[in-house]
Amino acid sequence: MIDKFKAVHAIEQEGKLNISISDLSIDDLFPGDVLIQVFYSTVNYKDGLALKGNKGRIMQKFPMIPGIDFSGIVIESNHKDFVAGDEVIATGWGLGETHTGGFSQLARVKGDWLIKRPDNISLKSSMILGTAGFTSMLSILELEDNYIKSKNGPVLVTGGSGGVGSTSILLLSNLGYEVVALTRSAKNLEYLLSLGASNVIYSDDLDSHNKLLKKGEWAAVIDTVGGDVLGNLIPSIKNNGCIAVCGNAAGVNFNTNVLPFILRGVRLIGIDSNFCPLERRNISWNRLNKYIKKLNLDLITTEVVLSDVFRVAQEILLGNIRGRIVVDVNNF
Ligand SMILES: NC(=O)c1ccc[n+]([C@@H]2O[C@H](COP(=O)([O-])OP(=O)(O)OC[C@H]3O[C@@H](n4cnc5c(N)ncnc54)[C@H](OP(=O)(O)O)[C@@H]3O)[C@@H](O)[C@H]2O)c1
Repeated sequence: MIDKFKAVHAIEQEGKLNISISDLSIDDLFPGDVLIQVFYSTVNYKDGLALKGNKGRIMQKFPMIPGIDFSGIVIESNHKDFVAGDEVIATGWGLGETHTGGFSQLARVKGDWLIKRPDNISLKSSMILGTAGFTSMLSILELEDNYIKSKNGPVLVTGGSGGVGSTSILLLSNLGYEVVALTRSAKNLEYLLSLGASNVIYSDDLDSHNKLLKKGEWAAVIDTVGGDVLGNLIPSIKNNGCIAVCGNAAGVNFNTNVLPFILRGVRLIGIDSNFCPLERRNISWNRLNKYIKKLNLDLITTEVVLSDVFRVAQEILLGNIRGRIVVDVNNF
């Protein structure tokens, strides 16, 4: 039994957060019925916000281990569905927010939060996908449930070079959709085309006129940036199109009007990967399992060690990270 381990640890000291890699013992983990040796985690946008040290914005209890997702092998289990040796994936459920999370060599969580690693998805590729790939698949499930088919027209993915953006482009293009990527910078052009985007457009070129309705261009949008970009796109959705609203990299507020909704039947659908029910999680991971062999994950993957998460967290908030960052938590 491992009783000492390393983790990123956030401690409150005189009203400020001190976050560093520390040597911890099992008692530092929050309660749960499954103990897991963690192999991989990832750096998501939310982890960037957490490591910035804003008390209460992401991490809400202290001392806390940040990291909103991980994969690993069960060491001990008092849960009926898991035994030692099972390979598992955890995303969300407040990990790294209200429950000790994935930037750690050990994790202890409720078995009800765990997904058994599907056959085709290795522990490493489960975290290359991680919360981002899972969120992309949840978004695609919503498009499918809303009858968005490839023949309906192009699907726009905003924040194209980011984690949710990159995995969405890979998945949608493999599913036969015509995918257009929206990005802020021409430096991402070749990358986005390599993922399967048929075209790339730039945020600066979006029609920023405050029209109630614009020419219907997009059958659907997977939106990871929110803010004015989202407000701009709603009048450009085709009849019966929909937008999966995932993120807020560009802001939380947007202006809109009722006409796209009542004249075109546009649907705005919120995606919450954090507390998504287990049944939907299983459907999503099974779909990812079905397609993963067709996805060239090398295109989107950068691997780092645990001590790199501080640097990567700063970069992700600056919008400088392309694709997915997978963290080998057993290297420092
Ligand atoms: N709803 C959910 O369950 C869920 C799950 C995962 C993530 N999210 C949210 O989804 C968003 C993306 O997450 P992520 O992990 O994919 O983050 P990410 O890797 O940082 O990707 C965000 C992308 O958005 C673009 N971007 C960044 N800052 C921007 C700005 N100020 N204005 C416009 N575009 C900007 C960048 O793409 P370009 O350089 O290509 O423009 C960036 O790569 C975040 O807001 C995150 O919190 C939500």
